[in-house]
Amino acid sequence: MIILGIETSCDETSAAVVDDSAGAASARIRSNVVKSQIDEHRPFGGIVPEVAARAHLRHLDGLIGRAMAEAGADWTELDGVAATGGPGLIGGVIVGVMSGKAIAAVHGLPFLAVNHLEGHALTARLTDDLEFPYLLLLVSGGHCQLLAVEGVGAYRRLGTTIDDAIGEAFDKTAKMLGLGYPGGPRVEARARNGEPDRFRLPRPMKGRAGCHFSFSGLKTAVRHAIDGLGRAPTETDIDDLCAGFQTAAGEAIVDRTANAMETFRGLHPGANDLVAAGGVAANGALRTMLEALCGENGFQLTAPEPALCTDNGAMIAWAGLERLRAGRTDTLDFAPRPRWPLDPDAPAVAYAGVKA
Ligand code: KG4
Ligand code: ZN
Repeated sequence: MIILGIETSCDETSAAVVDDSAGAASARIRSNVVKSQIDEHRPFGGIVPEVAARAHLRHLDGLIGRAMAEAGADWTELDGVAATGGPGLIGGVIVGVMSGKAIAAVHGLPFLAVNHLEGHALTARLTDDLEFPYLLLLVSGGHCQLLAVEGVGAYRRLGTTIDDAIGEAFDKTAKMLGLGYPGGPRVEARARNGEPDRFRLPRPMKGRAGCHFSFSGLKTAVRHAIDGLGRAPTETDIDDLCAGFQTAAGEAIVDRTANAMETFRGLHPGANDLVAAGGVAANGALRTMLEALCGENGFQLTAPEPALCTDNGAMIAWAGLERLRAGRTDTLDFAPRPRWPLDPDAPAVAYAGVKA
Protein backbone atom coordinates (compact mmCIF):
# COMPACT_ATOMS: atom_id res chain seq x y z
CA MET A 1 0.00 0.00 0.00
CA ILE A 2 1.10 3.56 -0.71
CA ILE A 3 -0.20 6.34 1.53
CA LEU A 4 0.21 10.11 1.45
CA GLY A 5 0.50 11.55 4.97
CA ILE A 6 -0.02 15.17 6.06
CA GLU A 7 1.07 16.68 9.40
CA THR A 8 0.06 20.22 10.43
CA SER A 9 -0.82 20.00 14.13
CA CYS A 10 1.93 22.15 15.58
CA ASP A 11 4.84 24.10 14.08
CA GLU A 12 6.05 21.72 11.39
CA THR A 13 4.31 21.47 8.03
CA SER A 14 5.02 18.08 6.53
CA ALA A 15 3.95 15.72 3.74
CA ALA A 16 5.27 12.23 3.11
CA VAL A 17 4.70 9.12 1.01
CA VAL A 18 5.09 5.75 2.70
CA ASP A 19 5.03 2.38 0.92
CA ASP A 20 4.84 -0.91 2.84
CA SER A 21 5.53 -3.07 -0.21
CA ALA A 22 9.17 -2.00 0.10
CA GLY A 23 9.79 -4.86 2.55
CA ALA A 24 12.82 -3.47 4.36
CA ALA A 25 11.72 -0.93 6.95
CA SER A 26 14.46 1.46 5.85
CA ALA A 27 12.99 1.59 2.31
CA ARG A 28 9.39 2.31 3.30
CA ILE A 29 9.69 6.09 3.45
CA ARG A 30 9.66 7.20 -0.18
CA SER A 31 9.61 10.86 0.81
CA ASN A 32 9.25 12.89 4.01
CA VAL A 33 9.37 16.64 3.42
CA VAL A 34 9.33 18.74 6.61
CA LYS A 35 9.19 22.53 6.74
CA SER A 36 9.82 23.92 10.20
CA GLN A 37 8.17 27.21 11.13
CA ILE A 38 10.96 28.16 13.53
CA ASP A 39 11.76 31.38 11.67
CA GLU A 40 8.11 32.49 11.67
CA HIS A 41 7.75 31.98 15.44
CA ARG A 42 11.20 33.07 16.61
CA PRO A 43 10.33 36.77 16.97
CA PHE A 44 7.62 35.76 19.48
CA GLY A 45 9.81 33.38 21.52
CA GLY A 46 7.31 30.54 21.09
CA ILE A 47 4.56 29.16 18.90
CA VAL A 48 1.72 31.55 17.99
CA PRO A 49 -1.32 29.48 16.84
CA GLU A 50 -2.56 32.01 14.29
CA VAL A 51 0.90 32.41 12.76
CA ALA A 52 1.19 28.62 12.61
CA ALA A 53 -2.16 28.17 10.83
CA ARG A 54 -1.30 30.77 8.20
CA ALA A 55 2.14 29.27 7.59
CA HIS A 56 0.63 25.78 7.15
CA LEU A 57 -1.83 27.21 4.64
CA ARG A 58 0.96 28.95 2.72
CA HIS A 59 3.29 25.96 2.49
CA LEU A 60 1.24 22.77 2.55
CA ASP A 61 0.26 22.51 -1.14
CA GLY A 62 3.85 22.99 -2.29
CA LEU A 63 5.13 20.43 0.24
CA ILE A 64 2.57 17.83 -0.87
CA GLY A 65 3.69 18.39 -4.48
CA ARG A 66 7.33 17.94 -3.45
CA ALA A 67 6.58 14.81 -1.42
CA MET A 68 4.80 13.22 -4.39
CA ALA A 69 7.60 14.22 -6.79
CA GLU A 70 10.41 12.99 -4.51
CA ALA A 71 8.56 9.70 -4.06
CA GLY A 72 8.14 9.43 -7.84
CA ALA A 73 4.50 8.68 -7.06
CA ASP A 74 1.46 9.33 -9.19
CA TRP A 75 -1.93 10.17 -7.63
CA THR A 76 -3.34 7.01 -9.22
CA GLU A 77 -0.83 4.87 -7.30
CA LEU A 78 -2.05 6.04 -3.88
CA ASP A 79 -4.18 3.73 -1.75
CA GLY A 80 -5.24 6.38 0.73
CA VAL A 81 -4.65 9.87 2.17
CA ALA A 82 -3.95 10.36 5.88
CA ALA A 83 -3.93 13.68 7.72
CA THR A 84 -3.47 14.51 11.40
CA GLY A 85 -7.01 15.00 12.72
CA GLY A 86 -5.89 16.17 16.17
CA PRO A 87 -4.93 16.77 18.89
CA GLY A 88 -3.14 20.04 18.23
CA LEU A 89 -3.50 23.71 17.36
CA ILE A 90 -6.88 23.65 15.70
CA GLY A 91 -6.19 26.15 12.89
CA GLY A 92 -3.32 24.02 11.62
CA VAL A 93 -5.25 20.77 12.02
CA ILE A 94 -8.10 22.22 9.92
CA VAL A 95 -5.65 23.16 7.13
CA GLY A 96 -4.24 19.61 6.96
CA VAL A 97 -7.58 17.84 7.25
CA MET A 98 -9.18 19.99 4.53
CA SER A 99 -6.28 19.35 2.14
CA GLY A 100 -6.33 15.61 2.87
CA LYS A 101 -10.09 15.40 2.36
CA ALA A 102 -9.90 17.35 -0.92
CA ILE A 103 -7.22 15.04 -2.35
CA ALA A 104 -9.16 11.96 -1.20
CA ALA A 105 -12.39 13.28 -2.74
CA VAL A 106 -10.83 14.27 -6.06
CA HIS A 107 -9.02 10.94 -6.52
CA GLY A 108 -11.69 8.72 -4.96
CA LEU A 109 -9.35 7.51 -2.20
CA PRO A 110 -10.04 6.45 1.40
CA PHE A 111 -9.44 9.26 3.93
CA LEU A 112 -7.78 8.54 7.25
CA ALA A 113 -7.92 11.02 10.14
CA VAL A 114 -4.93 10.09 12.28
CA ASN A 115 -4.48 10.90 15.95
CA HIS A 116 -1.11 12.69 16.10
CA LEU A 117 -0.14 10.67 19.16
CA GLU A 118 -0.91 7.45 17.30
CA GLY A 119 1.56 8.63 14.66
CA HIS A 120 4.29 8.87 17.32
CA ALA A 121 3.12 5.60 18.90
CA LEU A 122 3.37 3.50 15.73
CA THR A 123 6.61 4.95 14.30
CA ALA A 124 8.63 2.09 15.80
CA ARG A 125 6.64 -0.33 13.64
CA LEU A 126 7.51 1.69 10.53
CA THR A 127 11.22 1.82 11.40
CA ASP A 128 11.79 -1.44 13.27
CA ASP A 129 8.85 -3.78 12.53
CA LEU A 130 8.15 -3.95 16.26
CA GLU A 131 5.40 -6.38 17.31
CA PHE A 132 2.57 -5.45 19.72
CA PRO A 133 2.46 -5.09 22.67
CA TYR A 134 5.13 -2.62 23.75
CA LEU A 135 5.56 0.03 26.39
CA LEU A 136 5.67 3.55 24.97
CA LEU A 137 7.26 6.61 26.52
CA LEU A 138 5.83 9.54 24.58
CA VAL A 139 7.73 12.71 25.36
CA SER A 140 7.03 15.80 23.29
CA GLY A 141 6.23 19.50 23.49
CA GLY A 142 2.57 18.91 24.20
CA HIS A 143 2.54 15.46 25.82
CA CYS A 144 4.29 13.34 28.38
CA GLN A 145 2.73 9.91 28.70
CA LEU A 146 3.47 6.25 29.33
CA LEU A 147 1.21 3.89 27.39
CA ALA A 148 0.83 0.19 26.76
CA VAL A 149 0.48 -0.08 22.98
CA GLU A 150 -1.56 -3.24 22.46
CA GLY A 151 -2.70 -2.91 18.84
CA VAL A 152 -3.77 -0.38 16.22
CA GLY A 153 -6.26 1.82 18.09
CA ALA A 154 -5.65 -0.07 21.37
CA TYR A 155 -3.76 2.06 23.87
CA ARG A 156 -3.81 1.87 27.64
CA ARG A 157 -2.50 4.97 29.41
CA LEU A 158 -0.39 4.15 32.45
CA GLY A 159 0.73 7.67 33.27
CA THR A 160 0.60 11.27 32.11
CA THR A 161 1.77 14.67 33.30
CA ILE A 162 -0.23 16.46 35.95
CA ASP A 163 1.04 19.85 34.74
CA ASP A 164 3.64 20.63 32.05
CA ALA A 165 4.86 18.35 29.28
CA ILE A 166 8.59 17.63 29.37
CA GLY A 167 9.26 19.39 26.03
CA GLU A 168 7.53 22.46 27.42
CA ALA A 169 9.86 22.36 30.45
CA PHE A 170 12.89 22.16 28.11
CA ASP A 171 11.55 25.08 26.06
CA LYS A 172 10.78 27.24 29.12
CA THR A 173 14.17 26.51 30.67
CA ALA A 174 15.80 27.59 27.42
CA LYS A 175 13.74 30.75 27.36
CA MET A 176 14.66 31.66 30.96
CA LEU A 177 18.32 31.21 30.06
CA GLY A 178 18.00 33.31 26.92
CA LEU A 179 18.76 30.38 24.62
CA GLY A 180 15.81 31.09 22.34
CA TYR A 181 13.36 28.84 20.60
CA PRO A 182 13.09 25.87 20.15
CA GLY A 183 14.71 25.10 23.43
CA GLY A 184 15.17 21.33 23.61
CA PRO A 185 18.11 20.93 21.22
CA ARG A 186 19.81 24.06 22.61
CA VAL A 187 19.55 22.90 26.22
CA GLU A 188 20.99 19.55 25.15
CA ALA A 189 23.90 21.23 23.36
CA ARG A 190 24.74 23.49 26.33
CA ALA A 191 24.36 20.63 28.83
CA ARG A 192 27.25 18.80 27.14
CA ASN A 193 29.77 21.23 28.68
CA GLY A 194 27.94 21.63 31.99
CA GLU A 195 28.38 20.32 35.52
CA PRO A 196 25.06 18.61 36.40
CA ASP A 197 25.56 18.61 40.18
CA ARG A 198 26.37 22.28 40.74
CA PHE A 199 22.73 23.34 41.14
CA ARG A 200 20.51 21.19 43.35
CA LEU A 201 17.34 20.68 41.33
CA PRO A 202 14.40 18.42 42.29
CA ARG A 203 13.56 15.11 40.58
CA PRO A 204 9.75 15.57 40.50
CA MET A 205 7.66 12.56 41.59
CA LYS A 206 10.77 10.39 42.06
CA GLY A 207 10.12 7.57 44.52
CA ARG A 208 6.35 7.92 44.40
CA ALA A 209 4.05 5.10 43.38
CA GLY A 210 2.48 5.21 39.92
CA CYS A 211 3.63 6.59 36.60
CA HIS A 212 2.45 10.21 36.50
CA PHE A 213 4.85 13.05 35.74
CA SER A 214 5.15 16.62 36.96
CA PHE A 215 7.55 19.24 35.63
CA SER A 216 6.28 22.62 36.79
CA GLY A 217 8.22 22.39 40.08
CA LEU A 218 11.46 21.68 38.22
CA LYS A 219 10.86 24.67 35.98
CA THR A 220 10.28 26.87 39.04
CA ALA A 221 13.45 25.50 40.64
CA VAL A 222 15.43 26.58 37.56
CA ARG A 223 13.90 30.06 37.91
CA HIS A 224 14.94 30.23 41.60
CA ALA A 225 18.44 29.01 40.77
CA ILE A 226 18.81 31.79 38.19
CA ASP A 227 17.44 34.40 40.63
CA GLY A 228 19.73 33.02 43.35
CA LEU A 229 22.78 33.94 41.30
CA GLY A 230 22.03 37.61 41.96
CA ARG A 231 23.44 38.54 38.52
CA ALA A 232 22.95 37.65 34.89
CA PRO A 233 24.03 34.04 34.34
CA THR A 234 27.49 33.58 32.80
CA GLU A 235 28.11 31.12 29.97
CA THR A 236 29.31 28.58 32.55
CA ASP A 237 26.20 29.13 34.68
CA ILE A 238 24.05 28.45 31.62
CA ASP A 239 25.95 25.25 30.78
CA ASP A 240 25.65 24.04 34.39
CA LEU A 241 21.94 24.90 34.67
CA CYS A 242 21.20 23.10 31.40
CA ALA A 243 23.12 20.04 32.59
CA GLY A 244 21.39 20.15 35.99
CA PHE A 245 17.95 20.51 34.43
CA GLN A 246 18.50 17.77 31.84
CA THR A 247 19.80 15.32 34.44
CA ALA A 248 16.94 16.05 36.86
CA ALA A 249 14.31 15.70 34.12
CA GLY A 250 15.96 12.52 32.86
CA GLU A 251 16.08 10.95 36.34
CA ALA A 252 12.41 11.80 36.88
CA ILE A 253 11.48 10.19 33.56
CA VAL A 254 13.57 7.09 34.29
CA ASP A 255 11.94 6.68 37.73
CA ARG A 256 8.40 6.91 36.26
CA THR A 257 9.31 4.57 33.38
CA ALA A 258 10.69 1.98 35.83
CA ASN A 259 7.30 1.88 37.56
CA ALA A 260 5.55 1.63 34.19
CA MET A 261 7.75 -1.35 33.26
CA GLU A 262 6.47 -3.19 36.31
CA THR A 263 2.83 -2.41 35.53
CA PHE A 264 3.34 -3.32 31.87
CA ARG A 265 4.91 -6.67 32.79
CA GLY A 266 1.84 -7.38 34.95
CA LEU A 267 -0.40 -6.74 31.94
CA HIS A 268 1.78 -8.51 29.38
CA PRO A 269 4.09 -11.07 30.97
CA GLY A 270 7.04 -11.79 28.68
CA ALA A 271 6.77 -8.58 26.67
CA ASN A 272 9.94 -6.53 26.96
CA ASP A 273 10.06 -3.66 24.45
CA LEU A 274 10.26 -0.01 25.44
CA VAL A 275 9.79 2.58 22.70
CA ALA A 276 10.77 6.21 23.18
CA ALA A 277 8.95 8.59 20.83
CA GLY A 278 8.12 12.29 20.44
CA GLY A 279 10.46 15.25 20.05
CA VAL A 280 12.23 14.91 23.42
CA ALA A 281 13.16 11.30 22.53
CA ALA A 282 15.66 12.93 20.18
CA ASN A 283 17.66 13.86 23.33
CA GLY A 284 20.87 11.83 23.45
CA ALA A 285 21.34 12.05 27.23
CA LEU A 286 17.81 10.77 27.82
CA ARG A 287 18.36 7.91 25.38
CA THR A 288 21.51 6.89 27.25
CA MET A 289 19.65 6.89 30.58
CA LEU A 290 16.80 4.85 29.08
CA GLU A 291 19.31 2.35 27.63
CA ALA A 292 20.70 1.82 31.12
CA LEU A 293 17.22 1.42 32.60
CA CYS A 294 16.34 -1.16 29.95
CA GLY A 295 19.59 -3.04 30.65
CA GLU A 296 18.72 -3.25 34.37
CA ASN A 297 15.18 -4.47 33.74
CA GLY A 298 15.59 -6.83 30.79
CA PHE A 299 13.88 -4.48 28.34
CA GLN A 300 14.98 -3.62 24.82
CA LEU A 301 14.94 0.08 23.85
CA THR A 302 13.75 1.18 20.42
CA ALA A 303 14.09 4.87 19.69
CA PRO A 304 13.50 6.03 16.12
CA GLU A 305 16.17 8.30 14.60
CA PRO A 306 15.78 11.92 15.81
CA ALA A 307 14.17 13.14 12.55
CA LEU A 308 11.41 10.57 13.00
CA CYS A 309 10.95 11.45 16.70
CA THR A 310 10.03 15.07 15.98
CA ASP A 311 6.82 15.78 14.04
CA ASN A 312 6.80 14.52 10.46
CA GLY A 313 4.41 13.35 7.76
CA ALA A 314 5.85 9.83 7.49
CA MET A 315 4.57 8.88 10.93
CA ILE A 316 1.08 10.07 9.94
CA ALA A 317 1.22 8.21 6.61
CA TRP A 318 2.32 5.05 8.42
CA ALA A 319 -0.40 5.26 11.09
CA GLY A 320 -2.90 5.84 8.27
CA LEU A 321 -1.56 2.77 6.49
CA GLU A 322 -1.97 0.63 9.61
CA ARG A 323 -5.51 1.96 10.05
CA LEU A 324 -6.37 1.25 6.42
CA ARG A 325 -5.03 -2.31 6.77
CA ALA A 326 -7.31 -2.69 9.80
CA GLY A 327 -10.28 -1.30 7.82
CA ARG A 328 -10.55 1.80 10.01
CA THR A 329 -11.15 4.56 7.47
CA ASP A 330 -12.90 7.87 8.15
CA THR A 331 -15.66 9.69 6.32
CA LEU A 332 -15.31 13.14 4.79
CA ASP A 333 -17.43 14.66 7.55
CA PHE A 334 -14.70 13.98 10.14
CA ALA A 335 -14.42 17.07 12.38
CA PRO A 336 -10.89 18.17 13.42
CA ARG A 337 -10.27 17.69 17.16
CA PRO A 338 -8.25 20.07 19.33
CA ARG A 339 -8.26 17.36 22.04
CA TRP A 340 -8.19 13.66 21.31
CA PRO A 341 -6.91 11.28 24.01
CA LEU A 342 -5.34 8.01 22.82
CA ASP A 343 -6.97 6.17 25.70
CA PRO A 344 -10.44 7.67 26.23
CA ASP A 345 -10.99 5.40 29.25
CA ALA A 346 -8.00 6.72 31.22
CA PRO A 347 -9.11 8.40 34.46
CA ALA A 348 -8.55 12.14 34.74
CA VAL A 349 -5.51 13.06 36.84
CA ALA A 350 -5.90 15.23 39.90
CA TYR A 351 -3.74 18.28 40.46
CA ALA A 352 -4.83 18.68 44.05
CA GLY A 353 -2.47 17.41 46.70
CA VAL A 354 0.30 16.48 44.31
CA LYS A 355 3.40 18.58 44.54
CA ALA A 356 6.61 18.33 42.63
O1 KG4 B 1 7.00 15.81 18.94
P1 KG4 B 1 7.38 17.24 18.70
O2 KG4 B 1 8.15 17.57 17.44
O3 KG4 B 1 6.11 18.16 18.71
C1 KG4 B 1 5.04 17.94 19.58
O4 KG4 B 1 4.14 17.10 19.22
O5 KG4 B 1 5.05 18.56 20.67
O6 KG4 B 1 8.19 17.73 19.99
C2 KG4 B 1 8.69 19.05 20.09
C3 KG4 B 1 9.38 19.19 21.44
C4 KG4 B 1 9.82 20.60 21.74
O7 KG4 B 1 9.45 20.93 23.07
C5 KG4 B 1 11.35 20.52 21.60
O8 KG4 B 1 12.05 21.46 22.40
C6 KG4 B 1 11.61 19.10 22.05
O9 KG4 B 1 10.55 18.35 21.48
N1 KG4 B 1 12.90 18.59 21.57
C7 KG4 B 1 13.91 18.24 22.41
C8 KG4 B 1 14.99 17.87 21.58
N2 KG4 B 1 14.60 17.98 20.27
C9 KG4 B 1 13.30 18.42 20.30
N3 KG4 B 1 13.98 18.24 23.75
C10 KG4 B 1 15.14 17.86 24.31
N4 KG4 B 1 16.24 17.50 23.59
C11 KG4 B 1 16.21 17.49 22.23
N5 KG4 B 1 17.29 17.13 21.53
ZN1 ZN C 1 4.45 15.42 18.12
